[in-house]
Amino acid sequence: MGASPAAATIDIELTNRCNATCDFCPRDAMPQEGLMRPEVFDQSLARAVEFQALARRLPRPVGVTVTFCGTGEPLVHRRATEYVRRVREAELACQLTTNGSLLSRATAVALLDAGLEWLTVSVSELGADYERVYGLSFARTRDNVEQFIDLARGRCVVGIVVVDHHRDEAHLRAVEDYWRARGVDYVHRYGLINRAGSLRSAAAALPAWRPGDPPAPSSDAAAPWPICPAPFVHLFVGWDGRYYLCSSDWRKEVGFGSVFETSFAAITADKLARVRSRQPICARCTLDPLNLLLQARHAIDPTRSRPLDVSLQELVENDRRAQVFAEDIMATALDAATATAS
Ligand SMILES: C[S@@+](CC[C@H](N)C(=O)[O-])C[C@H]1O[C@@H](n2cnc3c(N)ncnc32)[C@H](O)[C@@H]1O
Ligand code: SF4
Repeated sequence: MGASPAAATIDIELTNRCNATCDFCPRDAMPQEGLMRPEVFDQSLARAVEFQALARRLPRPVGVTVTFCGTGEPLVHRRATEYVRRVREAELACQLTTNGSLLSRATAVALLDAGLEWLTVSVSELGADYERVYGLSFARTRDNVEQFIDLARGRCVVGIVVVDHHRDEAHLRAVEDYWRARGVDYVHRYGLINRAGSLRSAAAALPAWRPGDPPAPSSDAAAPWPICPAPFVHLFVGWDGRYYLCSSDWRKEVGFGSVFETSFAAITADKLARVRSRQPICARCTLDPLNLLLQARHAIDPTRSRPLDVSLQELVENDRRAQVFAEDIMATALDAATATAS
């Protein structure tokens, strides 16, 4: 594999509203809720197309997938299936992540006919536990997923996400086996992320700094620590049409202007500066490399699920890929701007 990521995703957040109540999702930290307006979607898609054209011209070309995930439930947006079609008509790959409860037969057929290529359903609990944690009917979600698997055969890859919010290997395996037996193409485990400090749960708390640990989060911004790759390989546009550092910015604290004002390429240098400084959100985030090292050092992860089971080698490799990708984007965008001006 080359030095750049094989693929970048652009998460277009159709909404941060949600019909579920997952207790590991800090929805109450959000400053405001809303739905993406049609003109904002049009411009976000135009920016995604523009970025894909740039990504193809990079010294190490990168594929781009538009993903509908965000911090809410994309199927709450009544235009979600229409927008999948628009993405595919723009010749971009398309993926959607959902809690599955609104995935009726009509919606499933519409998504597949629109050309959806990957569907990921987030179901980390089974039966009554699911109903308690998600506040949704388990039977409906299960039936929706089974129906989608049937309809999708040969047309769309179907996966399940299981969040390790109990830190319980046996639980993860049980949920994984349940869905594999029903024919899903893959199951991904997510380690519990604290959403840049928004999730106030003991299970997602960062360990207190101890003497001998890597420098404390308030340390010198220029310290040579690896940067988080998320802002470069997983780009994010909020429902309000503003670019944000990453999908963990639950409070929408680190914005970079709107899709009407600027492009993904033009904000890359600002993103690099932000993520290098670790301020204000990375220093609080469980995905920040320095915090990952801190967690690994405190050896608090018995389940060995991501993101806690992290090696220094992996951090350095991710860092190198992110920096090379960011530098390629900046250089290629500058060349294009110079060529246009001359
Ligand atoms: C915020 S949801 C939005 C999309 C959709 N509503 C869903 O449930 O899939 C995106 C993904 O984040 C996962 N998630 C939510 N809170 C999380 C946390 N604290 N740590 C890790 N993953 C989390 C969800 O399970 C889901 O797979
Ligand atoms: S470390 Fe920073 S950039 Fe990475 S996911 Fe956390 S808040 Fe986002």
